[in-house]
Amino acid sequence: MGCLSQILNKNEADAIGENALPDVVLAPMSGITDRAFRTAVRASGGGLVVSEMVASHAMLTDVRAEMQKLQFNAAAEAPVAIQIAGWDPVMMAEAAKMAEQMGACLIDINMGCPAKKVTGRASGSALMKEPVLAGEICSAVVDAVSLPVSLKTRLGWDDTHRNAPEIGYIAQESGISMITIHGRTRTQMYKGSANWHEIANVVQAVSIPVLANGDIISPEDAKSALVASKAQGVMVGRGAQGRPWLLAQIADHLEGRDIRSAPDMAFRYQQICQHLDMLLTDYGMRGVRLARKHLAAYCDYLPQSQDLRLIATQSERPELVFAALAEYFDKEACHAA
Ligand SMILES: Cc1cc2nc3c(=O)[nH]c(=O)nc-3n(C[C@H](O)[C@H](O)[C@H](O)COP(=O)(O)O)c2cc1C
Repeated sequence: MGCLSQILNKNEADAIGENALPDVVLAPMSGITDRAFRTAVRASGGGLVVSEMVASHAMLTDVRAEMQKLQFNAAAEAPVAIQIAGWDPVMMAEAAKMAEQMGACLIDINMGCPAKKVTGRASGSALMKEPVLAGEICSAVVDAVSLPVSLKTRLGWDDTHRNAPEIGYIAQESGISMITIHGRTRTQMYKGSANWHEIANVVQAVSIPVLANGDIISPEDAKSALVASKAQGVMVGRGAQGRPWLLAQIADHLEGRDIRSAPDMAFRYQQICQHLDMLLTDYGMRGVRLARKHLAAYCDYLPQSQDLRLIATQSERPELVFAALAEYFDKEACHAA
């Protein structure tokens, strides 16, 4: 059985039922991994998905945009982890309790976000520079909920402060059940390549499971990342945009099965329409613009889709986007016939 099944089984056997979860997790991505995208990943065979980061202080003050991020349908999406960010142990504990009540199966603490609006107040990756506070936050969240709690962080703040093993050990001693390491430092942001080998230093420093993250865009990459890092599983973000079935393909490869094919065109048509539809339901007309990056990413994996891409990324009118989708997939069906 994989490490995720073991962690979640301790508390949440119902969430995963009879089936063991693959150790392949959808990464939290602000503005991307909302209900619509998580649903697409789950419908394509993906396992555990993580919400976008929600700021603990905003959750408690009921800032609408922040609460909207938490929209999820526990029955349709479970298991879902909710990621929280913040700098105050008391607020983080309260936010974790709320996430538990909403039906999360796991609470993930954000210690990796490089954005200044987050790090500016000693949260996100800035917590790597404050190991004592980082430990206090971990303990406060672990004590506040009966769910397992995980931590997502980076290799360190910058080249001279690569202290992920120390942070990992502190987290473990505070009761954290699993750690994800994005193989870059904060100052690297998203530049250069993720260093999967260096993640092995964290694996060596702790006895809890570690997930390797960063630049995994194929089943073969996932295997290489596991070999280099000796981690127990992988977390995948950008690679899944436009192909929500990637996580299931990675799980196939890691579990020794033949890698399933990408879904057929009929499934993709239905999936893309459902994705757009859900964005419109959740965000109203704003959903048309929010859909653009997803539709562009879907087009990356659709042949001859230049015309569709143009309409999907420029139109303000959902009916025109749906019509362009219908026309594209009709034409594709004719070619295939
Ligand atoms: C648009 C975007 C938003 C992100 N938002 C979050 C976030 O809310 N919380 C977090 O821990 N990491 C966030 N990340 C980082 C990803 O979870 C992941 O660590 C990073 O993209 C590297 O993995 P990948 O190469 O598989 O995408 C974000 C990344 C991107 C590209």
